[in-house]
Amino acid sequence: MRLFLSALCAVSLFAASKDVPTPTYAKEVSRIVQTNCEGCHRPGQIGPFSLTNFKEVSAFKNEIKRVTAAHIMPPWSAVAGHGEFKNERRMSEVEISTLARWVDAGAPMGDAKDLPAKAVYNDGWAFGEPDLIYKMPEAFSLSGNGVDEYRCFVMPSGLTEDKFIRGMEVRPGNRKIVHHVRTFADMTGEARKLDAADPKPGFDCSRGMVVAYKRIGIGGWAPGLVPELRAEDTGALFPKGSDVVMEVHYHKNGKVESDLSTIGVYLNKSPIAHIAKSVPIANPFIKIPAGEERHAERASYTFRKDVIATSVLPHMHLLGNEMEMTAVFPDGSRKPLVWAKPYDFNWQTNYVFKEPVFLPAGTKVEVVGYYNNSESNAKNPNKPLKEIKWGEGTTEEMLVGFISYYDAPVKAPASNE
Ligand code: HEC
Repeated sequence: MRLFLSALCAVSLFAASKDVPTPTYAKEVSRIVQTNCEGCHRPGQIGPFSLTNFKEVSAFKNEIKRVTAAHIMPPWSAVAGHGEFKNERRMSEVEISTLARWVDAGAPMGDAKDLPAKAVYNDGWAFGEPDLIYKMPEAFSLSGNGVDEYRCFVMPSGLTEDKFIRGMEVRPGNRKIVHHVRTFADMTGEARKLDAADPKPGFDCSRGMVVAYKRIGIGGWAPGLVPELRAEDTGALFPKGSDVVMEVHYHKNGKVESDLSTIGVYLNKSPIAHIAKSVPIANPFIKIPAGEERHAERASYTFRKDVIATSVLPHMHLLGNEMEMTAVFPDGSRKPLVWAKPYDFNWQTNYVFKEPVFLPAGTKVEVVGYYNNSESNAKNPNKPLKEIKWGEGTTEEMLVGFISYYDAPVKAPASNE
């Protein structure tokens, strides 16, 4: 039987190399590009040019062959075999070689009758009109020179009862200066007072992670991140009476620029089974020597309760080249959560596990970041090279592996079984 099968395979392989017709735009290529590229490469999205029809795609044919063969596009840094992800952006080898064969054959259009239906997009908000929209009360004007600024803008949530957030879309107003955005719910009214005391819109919150009020994180945005919805029964607490604080990290580009950023919030519609939480596993004592090509720094966090992990988000700056996150179970066995390589500051990604991962109490999550602080790193912002430590600025570094989770359901007492 086995012999027979392999004989059959050999025959079909032989047939494949001889008789398979040249791929055309209308038949194969349009469909591959529609599924893998058009989401970002269309008007109003983050891709620098559109790839939505024959003219646009054939104009970029050589670049398309190059970036797909080199796995540069679609952008995705997780090394295969180290975690499995729901939001994976990876093309099959068949798709990649189909694009290459099409380009090599002179990028023929084929028969227009074979074209797929045009994809329909809801341009505007990713998941339709949000339930709640918070817009900065007025535009913030940023001077062109000097150090990066952190501004916090405060908006009343308007909530009279506790709600849960299923997802959030942050729309940076001016991408030339918005480096990242974090959003919080302030339950103390303190952020509002800080805002009132600062004459400019919002208040200065350069101290970043250290704050003078009680807050919980509700969402954020960094370059490369796309909006996501959690499972229908999982949401982040959005407390009644809270204020929304939008913390924007601005970097300056030499010109006066202004920004008016907005966030859209999607609430859970059905009752909540799990409260979404997240912990930053960080090491603020990192020290990256000048000249080193693969300097490792570590951080870890041990869960004291049973939890179910849903995603991980590696965060470093421009020297960061690789990050590995691993769960070390109480019995010493190890499970890779993600290995982002090459890590790219412009492509920050929340890696959502295909199957949520159960982490029993006592599980340690290890984070290892590798940094290239030598001249071989084209993105190295420090010339001449110097030792780099932790800091919020883009020219400084960070080591943070965020892990999102919810508490594991408590088992029914034994007497009930
Ligand atoms: C998640 C969004 C996203 C997807 C999906 C995506 N791109 Fe891109 N692409 C971008 C962005 C943003 C840039 C510019 C920044 C960069 O190069 O990283 C870019 C740049 C490019 C470039 C220029 C890069 C270079 O090195 O010259 C090409 C060519 C390209 N994309 C082709 C594709 C093709 C082909 C696909 C599908 C197979 C695809 N992209 C999928 C967002 C995306």
